[in-house]
Amino acid sequence: MNAAVKEEASGPSTNSSQITGEGSTQSSAVGMGRPTDPSLLDTTHGVILYLESINVSFDGFKAINNLNLTIDRGELRCVIGPNGAGKTTMMDVITGKTRPDNGTAFFGQTIDLTKLSEAEIAHIGIGRKFQKPTVFEQLSVFENLELAMKMDKGVWASLRAKLSGEQRDKIAANLKLIQLEDQAHRPAGLLSHGQKQWLEIGMLLMQEPQLLLLDEPAAGMTDAETERSGELFLSLAGQYTLVVVEHDMEFIKQISSKVTCLHEGSVLAEGTLDQVQNDERVIEVYLGR
Ligand SMILES: Nc1ncnc2c1ncn2[C@@H]1O[C@H](COP(=O)(O)OP(=O)(O)O)[C@@H](O)[C@H]1O
Ligand SMILES: [Mg+2]
Repeated sequence: MNAAVKEEASGPSTNSSQITGEGSTQSSAVGMGRPTDPSLLDTTHGVILYLESINVSFDGFKAINNLNLTIDRGELRCVIGPNGAGKTTMMDVITGKTRPDNGTAFFGQTIDLTKLSEAEIAHIGIGRKFQKPTVFEQLSVFENLELAMKMDKGVWASLRAKLSGEQRDKIAANLKLIQLEDQAHRPAGLLSHGQKQWLEIGMLLMQEPQLLLLDEPAAGMTDAETERSGELFLSLAGQYTLVVVEHDMEFIKQISSKVTCLHEGSVLAEGTLDQVQNDERVIEVYLGR
């Protein structure tokens, strides 16, 4: 995203300072993708993400230790675990930000994630949302979604290009989904923290990802916003696959179908929230007595 912004902002009649995203030093959650060709992704056995024996070490410290994880297409998976368990590093491996030392990582049956760059992984349909929203504050909510849809064109070309009816419909549908219809023409900078997070999810959805990775999406939200986020994720599951890292157990209770608890870079327990919450080892290392 930033490359596109820079490229366009160097044009003669533009003011680059007006269009810098908030978290411009962070990799964009929107990615540089265009819509994924769904035929690329082969999930004939129902599995969208397959990690086997993944290892990541930093200066000899094993952040990820023989990690195995299978996510089915359409799932809404919660990942919990103490700080330092390797949750974010796992997302870094899936998105190509960090290369595993060894192990297998497949997207569908055929796409070997360890052979692709971060940009290529975004292109093929894995979207990631970081904790800090990276929306364009000066642009309206509508324009942010419009831009996310046409990111490959660059900011100014995108906003000048006329929208097709189909594209308008797509933006309208996403505005409804993220419940920002009545905010569509307000600058994104005026939204609440929670609304910015939803806008960023809407921006990710404009790219039509197959798999969405959300790292602590409810952090900093009010209780009402957290609950609304839970409803949003539930409404996305099925059509999309979501992997959500969260600490808020109430939130997990609201949305969870299956929960994975990581500890020291490996899966400690996996199952329903009840099963995981009652697991002695999970109580020991994470939930406390
Ligand atoms: N780039 C890095 N360099 C060195 N150590 C790192 C790096 N990234 C993560 N770690 C370490 O790896 C472990 C797992 O971190 P992380 O994946 O962020 O955990 P979590 O998201 O579960 O809190 C931590 O001990 C962290 O300090
Ligand atoms: Mg983390």
